[in-house]
Amino acid sequence: MGALPGASLQKVFWLLVIFCVLHLVVAMVYYMASRNLDIFQYFTKNKQSQHDWKNASTTPAAEPHVCPETSPLLVGPMEVEFSKPVDLEETKKDNPAVRDGGLHTPKDCQALQKVAVIIPFRNRYEHLKYWLYYLHPILQRQQLDYGVYVINQDGEETFNRAKLLNVGFAEALKDYDYDCFVFSDVDLIPMDDRNIYKCNSQPRHLSVSVDRLGFRLLYEDLFGGVTALSKDQFQKINGFPNNYWGWGGEDDDISKRIKSKGMSLSRPDAKIGTFHMIHHKSDEKNEPNPQRFNKIAHTEETMNSDGLNSLSYEVVKTEKKPLYTIITVNIGLPKR
Ligand code: UDP
Ligand code: BGC
Ligand code: MN
Repeated sequence: MGALPGASLQKVFWLLVIFCVLHLVVAMVYYMASRNLDIFQYFTKNKQSQHDWKNASTTPAAEPHVCPETSPLLVGPMEVEFSKPVDLEETKKDNPAVRDGGLHTPKDCQALQKVAVIIPFRNRYEHLKYWLYYLHPILQRQQLDYGVYVINQDGEETFNRAKLLNVGFAEALKDYDYDCFVFSDVDLIPMDDRNIYKCNSQPRHLSVSVDRLGFRLLYEDLFGGVTALSKDQFQKINGFPNNYWGWGGEDDDISKRIKSKGMSLSRPDAKIGTFHMIHHKSDEKNEPNPQRFNKIAHTEETMNSDGLNSLSYEVVKTEKKPLYTIITVNIGLPKR
C-alpha cells in the first residue's frame, strides 16, 4: 500500500494537466469561434453595404438623372453692359464650379450634351474678359457639360477665322469626347439665357438679332457670329473652309456647305436670339477679303477637298487658364 499515495498523486497531476489542456482547447475554440464570427459579420456587413450602394445607385439621389430639356435655372432676358472693367480673378471666384481650362460639368444632373465652345482669337483680351464674365454663369445655368477653347492665331499674318475654328474642333476632341461644337466670336454676348448653347437636329445659327446689326437677320442664309454644329454635322460638311484669309465670306461658305449636304439652318425665336456685340474697330490684318465672292461661288466644288480633310497646323502652346483653355496655333500663310 506504501506506493499508492504516490500513484494517486501522479493520477491527480495528470488529471490536472488534462483539465488544463482541455480548458485551453475550449478557450481557444471559443476565441477562434468568436473571431470567425467577427470575420463572418464583416463579410456579411460589407456585402450588405455593397448591396445598399447598388440599390442606391438606381435611385435618383446617387446616380444623377438626365438634366431636364429646359433648365429650371434660366432667368430669360438679362442686362448686358460694359461700363465696368472685368477682373478675371473675381470672375473665377464668382464661378467656383468652373475647373481649370474653363471646364464645367453640372453636379445635380447628367448634361444632355458635351459642348466645346470654340472662340477664334487674336489680340482681343478686353472682349475675352467680358465674354468669360457673362458666358460662364449662363452656360452653367444652361446645365451644359462644357469647355471653353480660345484658338489664338500666332504671328502677324492675315487672320483666318474659319481655319481657327477647324483647329478648335480638332483640338477640343483630343481633350474630351465632345458631341457638340459652338463656334462663337469673342465679341458676342447673348442677352437671353434661353438661347441654349447646344446642338440641334440641324446646324444652328444662334446670333439671330445682333444689336449692332439693327436686331434683324441681314439675310436668310446668314451663318456668322455664334453657331452650333454637332460632331456629325461638322464632319458631314468636311468642317469649315481653310482658305478664307481676311474678313468675310467664310460663314457664307459654311452656310452653302450645310445646304449642299441636304441640311437646313435652325434658329431660336428672334426675341430669344438677341445679342450684344462689343463695339470694336476693324482689326489690322483682317481687312475684307476681295476673293470672297469668287470663292463662295465655288463652294460646292471645293468643299470636299478643302476642310477637315486638308487641315494642317502646328500647335505652338496650350495653356489651361482658370477660365479657359488657350491654344496658340501656327496656321501658316495664305497661298499667293
Ligand atoms: N478676331 C480676333 N482678332 C482679330 C480679328 C478677328 O479675335 O484680329 C475674331 C474675334 O473673335 C471676332 C471674330 O474673329 O469677334 C470676327 O471678326 P469681327 O469681329 O471683326 O467680325 P464682325 O462680325 O464684327 O464683322
Ligand atoms: C459677309 C459675311 C458677313 C455678313 C454680315 C457678308 O457680306 O460675307 O461674312 O458675316 O456679310 O456682316
Ligand atoms: Mn465683331
